[in-house]
Amino acid sequence: MKKTHIFFMILCSGLMFGLLPVEASELEAGKAFFKKNRCMLCHSIGGSGGEIASDLSKVGSKRERAWFLKFFKNPKKWVPTAKMMPIKGSEKELSALADYLLAQK
Ligand code: HEC
Repeated sequence: MKKTHIFFMILCSGLMFGLLPVEASELEAGKAFFKKNRCMLCHSIGGSGGEIASDLSKVGSKRERAWFLKFFKNPKKWVPTAKMMPIKGSEKELSALADYLLAQK
């Protein structure tokens, strides 16, 4: 086997076992935060939830990460119709929430 092949295999398994679980757990954390904070009282996502506010199932193709982070701190400033309280959470939680919403495409 060529050295480049071995290098490539190590790189691939590194991606599979190293990076992906981190990414997946970030999404899980965002999802858990979304559920815990009752976002689904008003919004639906992936086919379930409320109908008072917009369906967030495609919001990831409409908005960017930086936008979400600004929006969470002061929803009404960015979307005047947003009848939402500022979303409270640690930077890590809000970052995970942004990743979760960005994954809704
Ligand atoms: C009391 C009802 C209510 C709750 C609870 C609520 N929202 Fe909202 N949200 C709204 C309304 C109303 C809007 C503005 C109009 C729309 O998008 O439907 C909005 C807008 C948004 C938008 C902007 C959508 C866009 O791109 O225009 C996002 C993102 C969002 N909410 C996320 C959340 C998250 C995350 C939570 C939970 C922490 C949450 N909302 C909880 C009512 C709510």
